[in-house]
Amino acid sequence: MAAGSVAGMIITLLKAIHIMALLLWTAGLLSLPLMLARHEEGEHQFRYARIRKFTHYSYTRLVTPAAVIAIAAGTPLIFLRGMFVPWLFAKLALVAMLVALHAFVGHIVLKMGEEAGEQQPPPAWPMMTGLCVLILGILILVLLKPPLDVQQLPDLLRAPVGRQLPLEEVPN
Ligand code: HEM
Repeated sequence: MAAGSVAGMIITLLKAIHIMALLLWTAGLLSLPLMLARHEEGEHQFRYARIRKFTHYSYTRLVTPAAVIAIAAGTPLIFLRGMFVPWLFAKLALVAMLVALHAFVGHIVLKMGEEAGEQQPPPAWPMMTGLCVLILGILILVLLKPPLDVQQLPDLLRAPVGRQLPLEEVPN
């Protein structure tokens, strides 16, 4: 089999894994704030335990592994497709924010289950809005692949400015 067609097959396979995993990741991330919001003040132990198990297992067994798989399949695609283009770096900046929101959702899941005292989840809509904006932004970038102009970026991001690190020298 020609090397080109093997590379093509690997790209197709990685893209399929990437898309399946990110569907699970984003759907799970959108569902978790809604599930968490179902906790009520003074709720019965049975109901609390059910929501707690659901959110904990979804986060640890489904949503986080899906995020790791989506990123693990997406990263080699950058090199196999030679995609060193501005829209991809903009997409990665949005993905970094999505990962930060993912960690925040995990923090709420943990807080609801393992912190002492009465806990109330934050309202779902700010998290849902942030997630929707980021996911939509990523999809627009990856599907439209807009020709972003790096010349528009501030000099600080385009050329070395010759400053020192704002840290003490690392000891040897
Ligand atoms: C670190 C995380 C990620 C990396 C490194 C990454 C990288 C990539 C690369 C290199 C491609 C191939 C682009 C092409 O062949 O045209 C791709 C495709 C794609 N990515 Fe990602 N991606 C990441 C996360 C995400 C996320 C979070 C989403 C959506 C929420 C997403 C949505 C897509 C879609 C829909 C495609 C298919 C685009 C097409 O075939 O036209 N990616 N990704």
